[in-house]
Amino acid sequence: MFVHWGLYALPARHEWVMSYERTSVEDYNAYFERFDPDLYDPREWARQAKAAGMEYMVLTTKHHEGFCLWDSALTNFKATNTAADRDLLVPYVEALREAGLKVGFYHSLIDWHHPDFTIDDIHPLRDAPHVEALNAERDMNVYREYLHGQVRELLTNYGKIDYLFFDFSYRVGSIADRYPGKGRDDWDSGKLLDMIHDLQPGIIVNDRLDMPGDFVTPEQYQPSGAMMNGGKEVPWEACQTLNGSWGYDRDNLDYKSVDVLVRMLIDGVAKGGNLLLNVGPTARGEIGPRAAAALAGMGEWMRTHARSIRGAGSANLVPPPDCRYTQRGNRLYLHLFAWPFPVVYLPGLADKVSYAQLLNDASEVVMEKRDPSLQAQNTMPGGQPEGTLTLKLPVQRPNVAVPVIELFLNTESELA
Ligand code: GLC
Repeated sequence: MFVHWGLYALPARHEWVMSYERTSVEDYNAYFERFDPDLYDPREWARQAKAAGMEYMVLTTKHHEGFCLWDSALTNFKATNTAADRDLLVPYVEALREAGLKVGFYHSLIDWHHPDFTIDDIHPLRDAPHVEALNAERDMNVYREYLHGQVRELLTNYGKIDYLFFDFSYRVGSIADRYPGKGRDDWDSGKLLDMIHDLQPGIIVNDRLDMPGDFVTPEQYQPSGAMMNGGKEVPWEACQTLNGSWGYDRDNLDYKSVDVLVRMLIDGVAKGGNLLLNVGPTARGEIGPRAAAALAGMGEWMRTHARSIRGAGSANLVPPPDCRYTQRGNRLYLHLFAWPFPVVYLPGLADKVSYAQLLNDASEVVMEKRDPSLQAQNTMPGGQPEGTLTLKLPVQRPNVAVPVIELFLNTESELA
């Protein structure tokens, strides 16, 4: 579970509100003064994440607005100086460990609050008069020290951190237009990574330092297949929102249905990837009712279907139309996005499967092999190409977001 939580939960109109509305640091301070997350309870977040089937959580230690959820020695712009009056990462990390969830931090490379972070095309001050003159007084060397110092704090003071999501580099591309964007030289990414590996040897780090990372991060889209780099498959994780925003966005009701979310999860695992699904808690610290309902809906499906997801990956086999395969050891999972009547044909699987059942209720699915030479007539369907396995489906589609058939392969390597 991805969690975007910061001062932007107060205006509640997108976590980029400061940039979108070109808000000055002085005006943005209104939210700093009002931040009072009296209902913040990371144990409850952890409970909801676990119930949804999640295995780790990634929280914004600092987003682009620059506000720090922890008691950083390097700034006053932090939770300890608000009505929260405490380091909010301490209970977060504790709650995750207690719940058996892996601990992830998101950390923004971008900082619209820091006085030395130079103004660029996404900075709130980009349309101010005399940007060049303002930038002449800003020194990225100072900001870089701050960035490295804060990452050091985060990876020193909270025990074992499993996962780090940096955000983001834009050295090239459409948002480096009037002013240069920022990338590896601005962050000194190589040195930063060395320090990270020194402090947390087991950690995994994403790919947004303008350098290759441990995994790639498609954002708000599903890749069409395995993700590749230089002809090789790379580990990937799609980050997805519930409604298009990452931070709490009160009036944005464009929520994805549970059906869509479950399909996204399956689709990712079928392509060898992973899903990082986001919630944006309210300024009081709660996961709002719409987000909570989405998580609960995913949890309802995961309760009976986790076996086809957790520890599973892609299968070396082309699925029939409207289906996705995942595989875990000698079990192959057929996810049916549509419900055909009265059979589904699985090319290439005849003689390779010893048993088939619906996952939701472990009821047998009868298997058949149809003689390829059979001619269809009246009530009798014709033959199927050699090697096709035919599964007889019940008329009633199971009442779950996506029905899954669990196929027991004769041997694990059957599809290799
Ligand atoms: C983006 C956005 C951001 C969000 C992130 C999640 O790069 O700037 O608001 O935190 O993606 O991946």
